[in-house]
Amino acid sequence: MSESTNQSWGGRFSEPTDAFVARFTASVDFDQRMAQHDIRGSIAHATMLAGVGVLSEEERDTIIEGLKEISEEIARGEFEWSVALEDVHMNIEARLTAKIGNTGKKLHTGRSRNDQVATDIRLYLRDEIDVIDAELTRLREGMLGLAEQEADTIMPGFTHLQSAQPVTFGHHLLAWQEMVARDQDRLNDCRVRMNVLPLGAAALAGTTFPIDRHVTSELLGFDRPTENSLDSVSDRDFAIEFTSFASLLMMHLSRMSEELVLWTSAQFDFIDLPDRFCTGSSIMPQKKNPDVPELVRGKTGRVYGHLMSLLTLMKSQPLAYNKDNQEDKEPLFDTVDTVRGCLRAFADMIPAIRPKAANMYASASKGFATATDLADYLVRKGVAFRDAHEIVGKSVAFGIEQNRDLSEMTLEELRQFSDTIDADVFDVLTLEGSVAARNHIGGTAPNQVRAAAQRAREALATRA
Ligand code: ARG
Repeated sequence: MSESTNQSWGGRFSEPTDAFVARFTASVDFDQRMAQHDIRGSIAHATMLAGVGVLSEEERDTIIEGLKEISEEIARGEFEWSVALEDVHMNIEARLTAKIGNTGKKLHTGRSRNDQVATDIRLYLRDEIDVIDAELTRLREGMLGLAEQEADTIMPGFTHLQSAQPVTFGHHLLAWQEMVARDQDRLNDCRVRMNVLPLGAAALAGTTFPIDRHVTSELLGFDRPTENSLDSVSDRDFAIEFTSFASLLMMHLSRMSEELVLWTSAQFDFIDLPDRFCTGSSIMPQKKNPDVPELVRGKTGRVYGHLMSLLTLMKSQPLAYNKDNQEDKEPLFDTVDTVRGCLRAFADMIPAIRPKAANMYASASKGFATATDLADYLVRKGVAFRDAHEIVGKSVAFGIEQNRDLSEMTLEELRQFSDTIDADVFDVLTLEGSVAARNHIGGTAPNQVRAAAQRAREALATRA
């Protein structure tokens, strides 16, 4: 990178910027990521300026031509970025003037880097949101496919990580799908609030030129121009909102990761992850580690950190723009990269999960998972629930002593605890009977799982 002196504000200054200060205050190393969005914004701005007569049509065309060439130079990796030119905006503008001469100096009429950067971040983030949204859809589809396939697969359901009641694996996967569906809704809300044009706010107060912000807004695909120039250049709540969406998504992915890590262990052994999502150990030949879910769980922390950074960045800033705002980019960019990576890994991995149904079933058969079913059975026969709870508690204690599940006891043994119990009790003590009995919307019965998956597919298909 070249370090020639920045001429943009030379008029007022009597000595050049200290070399360290120039590097310290520069953002070009990271904000060049927004170069194509910056050019897009400048083309729209120049088009609008010509429309209102501030630029001639010839000047507009020269500027747009130059910007398009610069766009290609950047895409080809030929653009020479300069730290002395501080940021992406001044680098591109300086290059434009170098290419087309004095007309290039007219591009910045009626705008400031303050409204320019606020526009660029929105254009950048909007594109990223659309990519992330598509990945969320792909992930949800993968979860729904596996849920449909595993609608009848029985596994233990847990509370406190202790066996609680049997559930279907499909039901568990649909719980994940619900979490991601809410995340996707939140992302959509964020996009709607973010999709407004700050350009035209100029430095902070607006501009004396007869700009038409509706035109620029439409050219850039925004819903409308922002209402207040001071707010436009200063707030970054949209970036915080995105990072907050990202934090919730990562929290969900991390919980799923934790379950995947547990399930792939020899102790649970509920699923197998294909080798391509795992790595081995350099010392223990038997190892196959669930690195992808572990890493996703681990990456959650940095996204939470970025949320805290951005909240703290904004908390004491007086209106309007402050240089502090330059610090918004790295946390935001890293959040985008992290979320995209984790989502890609998850969307690829979820459909590739290979459930071990027999192991899940055997595990659900332990831990007295149908104890509540026995209590409900007694209630249906007229026993008060509290008395039923007591009777089943005693039956479980007997089972623990004998090392036998409720379904493995004889009718006589069960009748020691209540003579209300009849031979039909064995219908409710089976795992299949237990899950099938939870037959209402939101319940774990296989046909409810299939119906819920169907509704989720329809909701996904009809998203705006
Ligand atoms: N690089 C700056 C940023 O990221 C652009 C805006 C600079 N504005 C200014 N008045 N120094 O925020």
